Amino acid sequence: FAIRAGAYSDELVKTAKTIASPGRGILAIDESNATCGKRLASIGLDNTEENRQAYRQLLLTTPGLGDYISGAILFEETLYQSTKDGKKFVDCLNDAKIVPGIKVDKGLVPLPGSNEESWCQGLDGLASRSAEYYKQGARFAKWRTVVSIPCGPSALAVKEAAWGLARYAAISQDNGLVPIVEPEILLDGDHPIERTLEVAEKVWSEVFFYLAQNNVMFEGILLKPSMVTPGAEHKNKASPETVAEYTLTMLKRRVPPAVPGIMFLSGGQSEAEATLNLNAMNQSPNPWHVSFSYARALQNSVLRTWQGKPEKIEDSQKALLVRAKANSLAQLGKYSA
Ligand code: 13P
Repeated sequence: FAIRAGAYSDELVKTAKTIASPGRGILAIDESNATCGKRLASIGLDNTEENRQAYRQLLLTTPGLGDYISGAILFEETLYQSTKDGKKFVDCLNDAKIVPGIKVDKGLVPLPGSNEESWCQGLDGLASRSAEYYKQGARFAKWRTVVSIPCGPSALAVKEAAWGLARYAAISQDNGLVPIVEPEILLDGDHPIERTLEVAEKVWSEVFFYLAQNNVMFEGILLKPSMVTPGAEHKNKASPETVAEYTLTMLKRRVPPAVPGIMFLSGGQSEAEATLNLNAMNQSPNPWHVSFSYARALQNSVLRTWQGKPEKIEDSQKALLVRAKANSLAQLGKYSA
């Protein structure tokens, strides 16, 4: 039966299923130029287009990456870039059976009238930009907004985050891009895990309310939630089993089984933590594909290994494969440290 009469309905469902395929997840390398600059600065490199290209080439041309990675989220600059030999990054990805994706939001700005919170810009002109990205080869999109627990969150900030995500999701689907819906609940704060659960339930209930109001087809979206953990400054750390229990409780209460994939962000967790938590979540059956869309938790050891040295590229690619494979096993619930 017809779920929604949109020109791209069938393709959206297929794309979402491809990304949410067993043992695979998303490599997020959609850092804005400013954020990529911070990563490069951590290994003493300047934030030039040449260095950003070299770093992205290293990541995207890793041999065997498609065994563990089903999608790669790119920043706009990267979508239009090529390898040094002139092969489009989009073609490298397609050849490796990795779906190219694109970050489409325009970043966070202060939200007047709130508790010093922010909102996410980017809806103006989004339809035409999305159509252009589709032509360029992108098949899914990402929009990241944030919710801060220590700042409230205020009812206004939650509503704005949810509404913006829903408008973006509808526009993406209308242009053939599977929207990743990402209301990142920041780790910052000294609150207990129960408080994170409470906020996450509130945020996701509003997100799904507005997704439904905007006639978004749930079979053609992917979610990118934060895991439910205690605040980063809370006195106790939670075990992977506890994180899994709270996070799955939240998902079961709030996310319809029609959604094909839940691709977690790492949010500042260490590489090992992000893998162990994902593995714990996949110890019992659930209605979705519970997987990863990590940036830092896939890139930290790559950067440390590379240091900008051409002779270290191969070792750096091996370091990426180690993390990608560990998370692939965690997606299947088969990782052991
Ligand atoms: P982290 O995994 O580093 O939190 O990045 C998530 C993200 O939104 C990048 O796409």
